[in-house]
Amino acid sequence: MKALITGATSGIGKCIAEKLSQRGWELILTGRNEEILAEMAERLGKCEIVAADLSQKSEIFKVYDFCRGKNVDMLVNNAGFGVFGRFSETDLDTEIDMLTVNITAVHILMKLFLREFREKDSGIILNVASAAAYLTGPLMASYYASKSYVLKLSAAAAEELRREGSKVKITVLCPGPVDTEFNNRAGVTFSMKPVSAEKTADCGLNAAFSGKLIAIPNLVTKLGVTGARFLSHKLTARLVYGMQERKKGV
Ligand SMILES: NC(=O)c1ccc[n+]([C@@H]2O[C@H](COP(=O)([O-])OP(=O)(O)OC[C@H]3O[C@@H](n4cnc5c(N)ncnc54)[C@H](OP(=O)(O)O)[C@@H]3O)[C@@H](O)[C@H]2O)c1
Repeated sequence: MKALITGATSGIGKCIAEKLSQRGWELILTGRNEEILAEMAERLGKCEIVAADLSQKSEIFKVYDFCRGKNVDMLVNNAGFGVFGRFSETDLDTEIDMLTVNITAVHILMKLFLREFREKDSGIILNVASAAAYLTGPLMASYYASKSYVLKLSAAAAEELRREGSKVKITVLCPGPVDTEFNNRAGVTFSMKPVSAEKTADCGLNAAFSGKLIAIPNLVTKLGVTGARFLSHKLTARLVYGMQERKKGV
């Protein structure tokens, strides 16, 4: 069995790679950091690597082309990052890069692999969204919105597969705060106790192997996203603003 994992050089993606390798899977790992990719390939074995910057559309297709004809069984769309700040003030170029990684790369890879998977009537897609997908997120507005896209796209495509009796499975992993490099990269600190990348990876993989659509790693996050369904966008936005504000004084 073979998996392509994006964002495999750090955090949740790195843990997913290690766990799949322990289960005997062959891996294709991607990320920008070629040195870490090479170190992982040497350590894990049965591993191919392809360095790519997924904020560039051509590099997204480069990753797909690298995988062509290699009989991939599982796609893990995990690469992503967040931009913190008031929507009117955040840097437009950085935000467009984020939308390309968080949305466009997920969209393109999911579509192209789904076509292959449908043809052979087998395959697993694990998309890493976030609990943010359920919320309205002032001070990280476009990040929250990007994760909402991933959740809605995945759930819709999963229903299309279910209706046609396909054996292809889609899972969306929606963690709350996870202890990774994510916050450092977004320039913020945690306002809640994070769960480990290891627990998050286990939760996503278990759900993916059992064909569960949604995977949420801990009870507090599950309660939070369930509660949010009963609140208006306006009220959710007010609550999330307070939460986000505690991550960094703005
Ligand atoms: N940590 C959290 O609190 C949390 C909560 C909910 C959801 N998530 C989601 O979990 C996923 C993984 O994040 P993480 O928490 O594990 O953070 P992380 O430790 O910062 O890892 C992010 C990964 O994404 C890759 N990446 C970032 N920009 C990229 C680009 N332009 N091109 C290619 N790869 C890129 C990075 O690889 P390179 O640097 O090598 O390119 C890295 O491997 C993300 O989608 C994130 O939104 C995280």
